[in-house]
Amino acid sequence: MGRALSLALFVSLSVACGEVEYSNGSSDSGGCGTAGPAAAPDGATGAAIGPTDAGPPLSLYERLGKRRGLEFIAKALLDTKVLAESDLKTFFFNQKAIPVPAGHPSLVQIEVCLGRFVGAAIHEDSYPGEPVNDPNNTQTPNHTCRSMSEAHREAFAKLNIGGANFDKFVGAFASILGPLVTLTATKPEEITQAELDALVAALSGQKDDVITDGAPSSGPYVPPPSDADVDAGVDVD
Ligand code: HEM
Repeated sequence: MGRALSLALFVSLSVACGEVEYSNGSSDSGGCGTAGPAAAPDGATGAAIGPTDAGPPLSLYERLGKRRGLEFIAKALLDTKVLAESDLKTFFFNQKAIPVPAGHPSLVQIEVCLGRFVGAAIHEDSYPGEPVNDPNNTQTPNHTCRSMSEAHREAFAKLNIGGANFDKFVGAFASILGPLVTLTATKPEEITQAELDALVAALSGQKDDVITDGAPSSGPYVPPPSDADVDAGVDVD
């Protein structure tokens, strides 16, 4: 992507201590992340870049730092919230495995797909888009982002995600962007409450595709009952 990070980029993430620090002075703590090597955006220092004096108002996409900004938000979400949460982190067993099993994305690839997904939700990017390259994911160096049901619920993934865990994930997303809410949101790193609500609604709308009927609503990952057990009427409780 062209110049060293389109606008500022936005959040400076301290992976070591698990704190997301916004250049507007607010911050949000989470646990320490374990994500892979997705780098902070080129030239991202956390320094704020002021509003433009003239010209059209910045779009939401521009204020969020465009593609790289959304990838960085996705990384912050995973590192400081999802992978720091005792139940949610257990669903990322494929990403913990060495190597990541063939056909599954690395954390870096998930971050790129998730950023793209949010960009597409605001009609500024397209999903799934080009395959996402991560040479460190040796079994799947070029991963094509999958639909929400393929990535979470269907035969190959079968993450067996329940409703409360889904809600926790969406809540974590909201809490990452919450510190950026301002009344008018004209500058980089600003978002109105209405824009945040619309993004959260877009994610919440994926619930039926992400969760699995009959999965435990909360708690850590448990494998789904095998098809054989279901066919045979085995009591799996
Ligand atoms: C609206 C909510 C969610 C969105 C938008 C979302 C988005 C994504 C995206 C874009 C990917 C990468 C696509 C791909 O693998 O091809 C992904 C993968 C993944 N997501 Fe989600 N996700 C959501 C909720 C959740 C929840 C609630 C969990 C766990 C509790 C979760 C766990 C995972 C895991 C483990 C993977 C990797 C799957 C694998 O190893 O094959 N996601 N998600």
